Parts: sequence; structure tokens; C-alpha cells
Amino acid sequence: MTQNIYDDESFFRGYSALPRSVQGLEGAPEWPTLQAMLPPVQDRRVIDLGCGFGWFCRWAAAQGAAQVAGFDVSERMLERARQETQDARICYSRADLEALSLSPGAWDLAYSSLALHYIAGLPRLLGEIHRALVPGGALVFSVEHPIYTAPRQPGWVKHSSGRPVWPLDGYLDEGARSTDWLAKGVIKQHRTVAGYVNALLACGFSLQRIEEWGPDAAQIAAHPEWAQERERPMFLLMAAVRQGG
Ligand SMILES: C[S@@+](CC[C@H](N)C(=O)[O-])C[C@H]1O[C@@H](n2cnc3c(N)ncnc32)[C@H](O)[C@@H]1O
Repeated sequence: MTQNIYDDESFFRGYSALPRSVQGLEGAPEWPTLQAMLPPVQDRRVIDLGCGFGWFCRWAAAQGAAQVAGFDVSERMLERARQETQDARICYSRADLEALSLSPGAWDLAYSSLALHYIAGLPRLLGEIHRALVPGGALVFSVEHPIYTAPRQPGWVKHSSGRPVWPLDGYLDEGARSTDWLAKGVIKQHRTVAGYVNALLACGFSLQRIEEWGPDAAQIAAHPEWAQERERPMFLLMAAVRQGG
């Protein structure tokens, strides 16, 4: 069953205070890497799965997208997205990605940022996205990296050398993880890197690019507190294409 934690009042308050919620795409350190994986969006029909506050929907429209549809299960996220959007090409809908159905062959680009690691039925959703894309259409998404989602008790621990280490366990055991992030008992779905890749291939996607995001030297110079994020990747970014056409 879908948890819809973003509609929890205290979780929503915490999430709304994060830099990415205040500054939008510029506050998301992985955005430059994800942006570089996108095809041109000019005149394209775009869907954003788990669109949150609609930052990407508005960016795509500003780049000249013909039509943008944002889907999210959270009323609170959608309420703010609608408040901050004045563009007739963008339409937001409340939808649970676990059950979403899309018109076949109706979209050129499917995008999702940090939402698909909440989805237990990812193979079904990827099949739905594949059918919804035109041949040659692209799927570009980010998720929390499997090394980040795997541990049963995520959090840095101090190695005997004094260095912080990330306790990787449970990596091969795919499935739900309950974590305490902004609220107690937030449910995410852990998958291995092979799990993501094989789920895409099983639907007929062709994998174009994969990135394991960590801050680069310039980002660490600007944000020294991010240096620890180079010890393990935080985000997994993937670009795939529906074959044919
Ligand atoms: C980390 S936020 C990312 C929001 C936005 N994509 C961004 O990058 O700013 C994850 C979003 O996924 C949505 N989400 C989680 N599970 C979902 C589901 N089952 N169906 C639809 N949306 C979901 C949440 O409500 C939330 O808005």
C-alpha cells in the first residue's frame, strides 16, 4: 500500500525546508548531471513522475516543451506546484505511480527525480512508461543509490581509523526498507543496480547512460560539508530509450 509520507504534516514541513525545496533545481546538487542526460525538450510532450513541487515541469515548459504532465500522490506537494505554476501547457494530476496508467505512444520524454525508489511495483510502472513513449522516446530518472538504500540502519559510522564509513549490508536483499528520515518509518524500496538495469531491459528499453552521483571538486569547494558524500554515491541516474522509430 502506498504510504504517501509527503502528505504527513511534519514530514512535509521538514521536506519543504530542504535547499532543493526552497531553491528548486539549483538547490539539487545532482541536477547538472541529470540535466546533461536529457534530450532536447523543445516541442516535446513530457511527463514528470513524482513531480513534487513541479520544479522540473516549469523548467521543461520554459525550455519550450509543447505539453507537460506532472503526476504525484501527495495533495500537499501538488497544491504548492499548482500555486507556483502559471502556464497552460502544464497540467498536474494526483496519481499513485503504483497504479498509474498512461495513454500509449503519447509522450516523448518521461522524467522522474527521486521518486521511483518509493515504488514497489517498479517493473509494472516501467512497462507502462515504455508503452506511453513514442519509439525513440526517452526515460531519464534519478533514485537514491542502491548503496544508500541497502543498509538496514543507514547512517555514517566511525571506522577504527577515524574515517567515516557507510555500513553497507543487505545489498542483495531487494525490497522495502523502513528509515527514519524527516519522520519515523519512511518506507523506501531498495533495488540493486542490476535490479534497475534489468528492469529497464526487460521492458525493451535501451540503456543510454548511467551515473553514480557524488559532488565534484567545484561543488566541494563551494560546499565543503559535502566532501563526505564522495565516500559512497548518493544518487543513481539513468537514461534509457524506447527502441524503434
Ligand atoms: C523526493 S520527492 C521529489 C520531488 C520532485 N521530483 C523533485 O525532484 O523535486 C519524491 C516525490 O515522489 C512522490 N511520490 C512518492 N511515492 C509516490 C507514488 N506512489 N505515486 C506518486 N508519487 C509518489 C512524493 O509525493 C514526492 O512528491
